[in-house]
Amino acid sequence: MSSSLNNTGTPGQPSLQTGQVPTTRSPATCSQPPTTGYRIVKIAPGVHSVHSLAHGETFHPVIGPVAEAEALYVRQLRLIERLKQHTGDFVIWDVGLGAGANALTVVRATRAIQCSIRIISFDHTLEPLEFALQHTDTLGYLGGYEGQLQQFIAGRKVSFEEGGQRVDWELHLADFPTLLAQTAAQRIAKPHAIMFDAFSPAKNPAMWTQPLFSGLFRLLDPRRPCALPTYSRSTMLRVTLLLAGFFVGVGHATGEKEETTIAANTLDLLSEPLDRKWLQRARRSSSAEPMWEPAYRQAPLLAETWEKLQAHQQFS
Ligand SMILES: C[S@@+](CC[C@H](N)C(=O)[O-])C[C@H]1O[C@@H](n2cnc3c(N)ncnc32)[C@H](O)[C@@H]1O
Repeated sequence: MSSSLNNTGTPGQPSLQTGQVPTTRSPATCSQPPTTGYRIVKIAPGVHSVHSLAHGETFHPVIGPVAEAEALYVRQLRLIERLKQHTGDFVIWDVGLGAGANALTVVRATRAIQCSIRIISFDHTLEPLEFALQHTDTLGYLGGYEGQLQQFIAGRKVSFEEGGQRVDWELHLADFPTLLAQTAAQRIAKPHAIMFDAFSPAKNPAMWTQPLFSGLFRLLDPRRPCALPTYSRSTMLRVTLLLAGFFVGVGHATGEKEETTIAANTLDLLSEPLDRKWLQRARRSSSAEPMWEPAYRQAPLLAETWEKLQAHQQFS
């Protein structure tokens, strides 16, 4: 997960430590933001994460990569219970591979059980994972998987077994919105769960548009229950997911946020579906209309969007 970060280390914000990639920006000499590069960020004693200089965002800015992935995905999706009951491959889409923290946290959390996990990661760059691999001691969560990660980076896929756990992990290295719009996307194995972890809508609007989530929903198998937790609780995102066809509920707190969002293609996977009170709040919100284009802006609901929302099966 990501959010804007004050690079100067404002009280209450994480401080930055020098990484092995480009230099700290100096306001005196560099007025433009950098276009590439990552840094290590100290979140708390012993907890570090990766910061993207280009986006000015830290991947897991408050509680750190592992704690966030455990709360938002492993526990909320009840992965261990579900995997114990599951036969065959359990397919997880990892949207926004980044530095691999979500994927590796899932692998580590389930390695003691008999299961077969197929992780399908999506990102348009391997740079943050390569960077993280240069900082395994500091980041911690990659430790023990260095060999598998080298293989994954080199071949864009890796398979390994540990005890009763089998992991098949592959990467689609592409612009995600473009990939989803291609017919080839229909051939990607259908997910049982989606970890959706792009940068924030303000910095990364192309990953949060209405057409993107509608395309994502159309790719699901209606007979395969699938849940998609994500860190945002914004009204705009929730409206976007509802209009795309998902059922949408309140997501677990993560330690950073008291509330997140979980969407699913079946109501059974939601413990607290959004209700009509939420719908009325959305109607009054000044930031509820989905982004139809990849350009960030905030706007109240259009009349036709309000009509569609009211007609959603979840509120009938
Ligand atoms: C917050 S980081 C993900 C952190 C990651 N889940 C982890 O556990 O380390 C967001 C990721 O989304 C990727 N991303 C942003 N826009 C994208 C796009 N249009 N297509 C594919 N990936 C994109 C970025 O490259 C970045 O790695």
